[in-house]
Parts: sequence; C-alpha cells; structure tokens
Amino acid sequence: MASAKMIFVVMFTATRLASRSSRRSPLKTNATLVHRASCAWGSWFVLLIAIAAPFARAQTSSAGPDDQVVRQRVETLLKEITLEEKMGQLSQLFAFGPQKDIDEAVTKGQVGSLLFVTDPVEINRLQHLAIEGTPHHVPLIFGFDVIHGFRTIFPVPLAMAASWDPAMVIRSQSIAAQEARSVGIDWAFAPMLDIARDPRWGRMVEGAGEDPYLGSAMAAAQVRGFQGQYIGSPDHILACMKHFAGYGAAEGGRDYDASNIPESQLYNVYLPPFHAAVKAGVGSAMSAYMDLNDVPATGNRWLLQDVLREQWHFTGFVVSDANAVKSLENHGFAKDLSEAALHAFHAGVNMEMAIGFTAYSRSLPAAVQKGQITEQQIEAAVRPILEMKIRLGLFEHPYVDAARSAQILASPDHRIAARLAAERSAVLLRNEGNLLPLNKGSYKSVAVLGPLADSQLDTLGSWAFQQDLPETVTLLAGLRNKLGSQTKLSYAPGVQIGRKFPSFFDQIFHLKAPTPWTAEQAKQEVSKAVSLANSSDLAVLVLGEAQNMSGEAASRESLELPGQEEQLLEAVVATGKPVVLILLNGRPLNIQWAAGHVPAILEAWYPGTQGGNAMANLLFGDAVPGGKLPFAWPRDVGQLPIQYAHNTTQAPENQGKRYWDEESTPLFPFGYGLSYSTFRFSDLKLSRAQLKPGETVGVTFDVENTGAAEGDEVAQLYIHQRSGSASRPVRELKGFERVSLSAHAKKTLHMSLGKEELSYWSSAKKAWVQEPAAFDVWVGGNSDATVHSSFAVVQ
Ligand code: BGC
Repeated sequence: MASAKMIFVVMFTATRLASRSSRRSPLKTNATLVHRASCAWGSWFVLLIAIAAPFARAQTSSAGPDDQVVRQRVETLLKEITLEEKMGQLSQLFAFGPQKDIDEAVTKGQVGSLLFVTDPVEINRLQHLAIEGTPHHVPLIFGFDVIHGFRTIFPVPLAMAASWDPAMVIRSQSIAAQEARSVGIDWAFAPMLDIARDPRWGRMVEGAGEDPYLGSAMAAAQVRGFQGQYIGSPDHILACMKHFAGYGAAEGGRDYDASNIPESQLYNVYLPPFHAAVKAGVGSAMSAYMDLNDVPATGNRWLLQDVLREQWHFTGFVVSDANAVKSLENHGFAKDLSEAALHAFHAGVNMEMAIGFTAYSRSLPAAVQKGQITEQQIEAAVRPILEMKIRLGLFEHPYVDAARSAQILASPDHRIAARLAAERSAVLLRNEGNLLPLNKGSYKSVAVLGPLADSQLDTLGSWAFQQDLPETVTLLAGLRNKLGSQTKLSYAPGVQIGRKFPSFFDQIFHLKAPTPWTAEQAKQEVSKAVSLANSSDLAVLVLGEAQNMSGEAASRESLELPGQEEQLLEAVVATGKPVVLILLNGRPLNIQWAAGHVPAILEAWYPGTQGGNAMANLLFGDAVPGGKLPFAWPRDVGQLPIQYAHNTTQAPENQGKRYWDEESTPLFPFGYGLSYSTFRFSDLKLSRAQLKPGETVGVTFDVENTGAAEGDEVAQLYIHQRSGSASRPVRELKGFERVSLSAHAKKTLHMSLGKEELSYWSSAKKAWVQEPAAFDVWVGGNSDATVHSSFAVVQ
C-alpha cells in the first residue's frame, strides 16, 4: 500500500500542476451582497433565500424518479449489457490527468467509475469515451473527496459539528455539492462518520467528535446537504458514508491500526451515525481499511451484509476504500489477490476503489468461469450502481457546462456562507475579565503572532484539494480587513512547526518543508515576536497545528503545542500585554498552561476560505461565538480516552480522582463553549413521571439570556438510566437545540424522550432493550448541566 500511495502522490501532484490554471476563476465581488453581509444575521437571511431557491425548485418537481421505473430500467439494462461490462461497473480507478490506460479501460467498458478528476473539460472528455465508445453507453460516475467544500472551503467537519447547527451543515454541504456537481463530480466520499474518542488519531478532524447522538445529527444533515431532497436532486450529488465501520477506534490512535470494539460499543457508540445516514437515505457506503475485531472491514460480511443490509435495509452500494480489497492480502486475510477479490465480493463490496488496477478486474472473470461466483451474483452487485447512475440522471445528462461551472465556483454567496459557517463553528474557551469582544478604538497597535497567523493553507485544513489558495483569508488578512489603516498591525511567525516524519500529503500539496532555522535564528525570531508584543497594545497569537498534522496518516503521540509554540506563548504573556490566543487545530491540544494564564482563547479549528474574516468578526463582536465542543477536552495525552459518557463504575464519587498525579476530569467538558452573553436554564418540566416502554415523555424548559448582549446558546438534554441489564453511561446526550436570544430574552424549549432515546444495546441480553428503570434528566449548556429532574419507565 505504501508504494501505491507514493504512485498516487506523484501522479496527483502532476495532475494538479497541469490543471491548476484552467480551474481558477477570479472571485467576482457583488457590492449588494457584500453590503448586506456586513450584518451577520441579515446575511443569514440573504443566504437562506439564495439557498432555498434550488430547494424550492426541487420540491415543486417530483420527489425523485419512481422506484419501479428505475428498477425496471436497471433490469432492462442488465439484459442488454455483457458480463464483461457488468464486471467493469464494479471497478473504480484513480485518474490522474489524461492517461492512455485509463482511456482504454473506459472505452472497453472495464471501469464504471473514476475518482480524482476535477476538471470539467477532462470529465466531459472521459464521459464521451464511456458513452460513445461502449456498446451500451453506460456513463461513468465521477467521485471525489468533497469533505468540507469544493472550491469554497468551509470549516473542517469537526468544526461544523462544533456549531451544533444541522441547518448550517445542510447549507454548507449543499453548496459543496453544487460546486462539485458543476464540474461533473457526481459523488462525494463524505460524510466521514467515524466516532473518535482518541484525539491522537488524526482523522478525528474529518468527523463529528466523540458522541453518537451529535454524530448522528451531523450524519443526517450532511447526507441531506449532499444529496438534497432525493438522490438526483438538481445540483446535488451522491453521498458516501465512510469508513464503515470502527476506523476511529484505531489502537493507540495510530491510523490504519486495528480496532477492537466490543459489540455493545459498536451498537451504542460507533454504528449509530452510520445508521442515521442510512435512515437519511444515503446512497453509498465506503468500507474501512482496518481490521475490526480481527476481520478486515472490507472483507467483513457481518458488517456489510448482516448489519448494513439485513438489519438496516441499506439499498445503495458499497465501495471499498482505496486499495482496501488488494490490501486484504496484506492483512493476512487472503492468500492472494484472487482470494482478496472473492472475500470482498462475498462480504458485500460492490465496487472496488483502486490505484492502477483492481483485484476485481483481474480475478472476477476467472471466478465466474470456475463457478466461484455466478452471473446472478455479479448482477446483484451491479444493480445498485446502475440504479444510482440512473437516479443521478447520468444517462440523460452525462456532460457538464464548464462556463456555468466557472460562475458557480465564483459565487460570492458561497463565500458568505463559508464565513458564517466559520463564525458559527468557533468555540470560545476562555474570556477572563471579558477581554473579548475587543473594542476597535482601544487598540492603536496589534501584534499578530504565530506560525499559523498568516498561512493560507493552514487556515483551510486538510482534505481541501481544489481550493483557490490566494483567495483564502488568513487571520492576519482578516484583521487587516477589519481594522483598516487606523490600527498598526505587525506580524511575526515567532516559531517554526517541526515534524519528525514528513506527511504523505505534503507531496500532494507540493509543500516543501521550510529550511529549519538555526538555533541563533530561532532565538532571534522569538525575540522579534516578543518585542512586537511589547511595543503593541494587544497581542493576538495564532497557534496550533499545521493543516497536515491532522487528517489521514497524521496521528500524533503527544497533544502538546508543536515546536516551540508553548515557549512563544509564555514569553508573550510575560510581557503583560493583553493576549488573545486563537487555536487552529483538528484535535484537542494540551493547553493547560494557557487555560490558566491567557485571558482569551478562541478555538477556530481550520475555519476555511473565509476564516480570517470570520475570526476578526468574532474578536470584535460583529459575530458572537456560540459553538460548543464536540468532545471532552483532555488535560493531556495520558488521560486518553476520556469521553464524557463513561460508565458510573463502583466508585463514582472518585471519578475525578483516578490518577495519582493529575485530575481525571477533562479540562473542558463535552458541549462546553462560552458566549459574550450568559444564559440560565430553569423550569425543567416533564410531561409525566412514569411511562411504559414505547411511550414518550415531553421535556420542557426555559433558557434565558441573562446578559446584555445578543447571543446563541446550545441547549443540551442529557439522560442517565440508573439501573438495567448492563451498566449505562453517567450521561448521554439525547437532544439539543441551538437558539439565538437577544439580551434578556427567554425561550421555552420542547424536546422529547421516546423509545429511540431510551433504548440501548445490552451486552447481557445481546439485543436492543428498553428496560423498566429510573432515569435522570438534565438540561444545560454542557455535559456538566445541573438542572435536573427524573422519571421512570415501568412495565
Ligand atoms: C481515504 C478515504 C478517501 C479515499 C479516496 C483513502 O485513503 O481513507 O477517506 O475517500 O482515500 O481519496
């Protein structure tokens, strides 16, 4: 696999360089929109109207093609195409620019899908080959990693989860879908739904954090955003839930390492977001790379058949992760390539994604000849692939209009949406003495410091391939835009971010590691930064991780601020100047010192194309932070894992004192985040004190803005089942709503708890159960919520 990845890197880099100029189109500014966008809430309104328009069109048209008609078309097609063509539909290849072998495979109908082609002209060319070159004119489906935007880059998925705002996530992913579809990409390899409870695992940045309930809400929102009302909605694309399943539990947080997950954890924690995506109608799934309880996910029939198709009634198709079928040999799960293909096929992998060639193309024809696989089984594998191609309208509209695409990619509305998403995703971790929001007039000079303060790539985060980099607004640029020439801004990186092993993605982004500073230079750079802080009225430090430190193959053994960032921070704080720390990162970091010494800390994640403008708005109060942590923030790496939903245990009173040398509570609880205002929860009422299994209890409570500023609070509902056939977590999130409240306003919220929220998979019963038991209920602004009530489920 390593060498395959290298080929991938080299070829991808070449393609990217070749197609770069053709892709870029200048962002046109629209005076009216920019003016309206100066008011955050006003711009939400503008955006809602803009985004609602295509939905409205979709709603007035049919709710998608008739199932019977689609299935009939598939059957007709299956009667027409040859066995070879059927097998061709099961192969997907990476395509890095025009390649003779790919052209040949397409023309011979040996490949049904390509990935990583993003130039509309090239997509049209390849599609012409598929349609005109093959006897039955079956179009290709083009896939790509549209993870948090296509041209307009939104905050990373972890950040979007921190918004606790599914409506915003739907809007963001529908914009990503529209941009991708405009160039001819029909299929996103997203959303990534892997629960991550060990932040050493770098792919935590691609998911929604540690919690199955929040993860499920984000899963459904993303599926809706990508796919629209139905598969084939205009300007939308097929979603692909990944990586099915358990990838986030990699041993030691080491990417690709085995996951060993007890069945109860699988059902209660790791699988629910996938199930939510299936319920939301996701059309495809990607099998994961790793061994799940010793059986590689890509050859795991229990996962791909028993759970996915039999228990959940998934009717889409499964694609393998890149080279994951061939890798079954590496796992020691197959003795050779043919056996690898057979195992994956029989487990339920419909389509194999591969670099160079697929094991399916090499092995399935012989397997059919030998009678190891029947033609009917091949047809069963092809059926959902053809069905999705039909639903997406690829037979009727296989080509794209490159000129229309250029317009869509340059849309100013999309940039506004990206800024609003970044503002809504940021989490205010600390604000001692109400340093924030800053008053523009109070600071004549500001020192902007840190290696990430003016780095466009690091503002975007990983999995952002098609971004228009020069357009990306860094924090420094955002502050310049906000403050104009009235304020003197000075900048110094202060430190370099070092890394022991180079990232595989560095080559994709054709990043050359900067020449390391000598010890003398390093000293001078820190002194320069500190002296800028000294001579300014305010220091804004932008620290955290370079974008390539999170994502695939980007695990870390430590959660420390990298390089000499901690030393820089401490030296700047020692100047006595007011300091604001902005964090860019895709995982929690060890900020224990900062949490005790830096007055204001704003978690910005990787905020995307408009990140700098969003952060400047937040710092100066033109937007109010309202995001909340999608994970419990550990004090340091030794505490991992440290999810809020741990079991009660035999000594609950000592829960925070499990270690000799450190508290065993997180630094910040799950669901935590401050605002420029304050909120109070009260008047928690349940509609009944007792209910029978299957019945529902209504939960009503007030949330009040007790401060003088408008702001958002995320109301969170937690439960605890006091007894049962298995131990239950101390708290589990079972409801949330992000509400905007003007100063001193109060709102009554209504939530409910029914069978779905009150059931769990019991490892004792080996079944889903809803048990008679007493339940606690809490509501509040994070997982330490104290407003409490209780009820009982009785037989
Ligand atoms: C990743 C997937 C991704 C695929 C295609 C793999 O290495 O694990 O998440 O969708 O590559 O780029």
